[in-house]
Amino acid sequence: MDQPIPICLRVTQPDIELWERLQWFRQQPGCSWVDQQNNLRSLPELKISRRGAELILGKSRLAFHPNMALIRAINILRGGSDRFLDATQLKAGDSFLDATLGLASDALIGALVVGESGHVLGLEKSPILAAVIQDGLKHLSETSFQARTEHKKKAWTSLVHAASRIDVRWTDHKEFLSRCPSKSIDVIYFDPMFRRTFRESDGIQPLHQWSEHSPLDRQTVKDACRVARKRVVLKERKDSGEFNRLGFKLMSGGRYSSVDYGLIII
Ligand SMILES: C[S@@+](CC[C@H](N)C(=O)[O-])C[C@H]1O[C@@H](n2cnc3c(N)ncnc32)[C@H](O)[C@@H]1O
Repeated sequence: MDQPIPICLRVTQPDIELWERLQWFRQQPGCSWVDQQNNLRSLPELKISRRGAELILGKSRLAFHPNMALIRAINILRGGSDRFLDATQLKAGDSFLDATLGLASDALIGALVVGESGHVLGLEKSPILAAVIQDGLKHLSETSFQARTEHKKKAWTSLVHAASRIDVRWTDHKEFLSRCPSKSIDVIYFDPMFRRTFRESDGIQPLHQWSEHSPLDRQTVKDACRVARKRVVLKERKDSGEFNRLGFKLMSGGRYSSVDYGLIII
C-alpha cells in the first residue's frame, strides 16, 4: 500500500464518547494521524462531532450517510425493483462480498436483503475510507433521524440493523481474492471507480480524492469466478469497454440509466 497522507484528528468538544471514537480511529491500520496542534493547515482533517466523523480537504467534505441507500430501501420494502438486486439476485442467507465498498450504499442494500442469516463483507483499499465508513456504519443507530412516514421509519430501522451486520476490511480485493478458498462466497460484486468520470452530480463525487482508481484486473475477475458459488457482478458506465475486456455479459434493462451491470454466472 502507498504511504498514507497524514490526517489531522480532532474532536469538536471535550466529550468522553468523542474521545473514545478518536482513539478508535488512531488504531485503524494504514492511516497516519497528526494531532490538531501540529496541523500545518494544509493537511486534511478528520473532524469528529456528535453528528459523526467528517473528512475535510479544502472545500471538499466526506462523511458517511446512507441517503441513497435509504431511498432504495424505501422502494424495496414497498415491493419496488432495484437494478443492483436484479443483477446480484441476492437472497436471504446468502454470503455477499462487496469488493469495492466505497460509501457502502450497495453493501447496505445487500445486508438488508441477505438478512441475519446471511453475511456481508465489504473490502476497501483506501484505509481512511475504510475507517470512516466502518465508523459510520457502527454509529448509525445514534444518528438522529426524523421520519415523517411509516415507510421511511421502517426503512431506516432496517438499514440500522443492516449496517450492524456489515464487516468492513481495509484491503486490496486483488490480494484478498487470491487467498480466498474456492466456492466460499455466494455473490461477488465490483463497482470500481469508472474509467471515465461523469458522476459530477452524484453523491460519489467527494469520494474521488480518497479512493483507489486503478482498473479491475483480469486475474482478480478470474479469482472471483473461482471463489464465487453463484455469480460475479460488475457495475460500470454504459457502453464501457470493461465488460468486454473482463468477460462480463451485459444484463438487459436500464435503458434510461447511465450505468450497466455485467454478469458472470457460475
Ligand atoms: C465507485 S466506489 C463504490 C461505491 C459503492 N458501490 C457504494 O455503493 O457506495 C469504488 C470504491 O472501490 C474502492 N476500490 C477500488 N479498487 C479497489 C481494490 N483493488 N480493492 C478494494 N477497494 C477498491 C475505491 O477506493 C472506492 O472507494
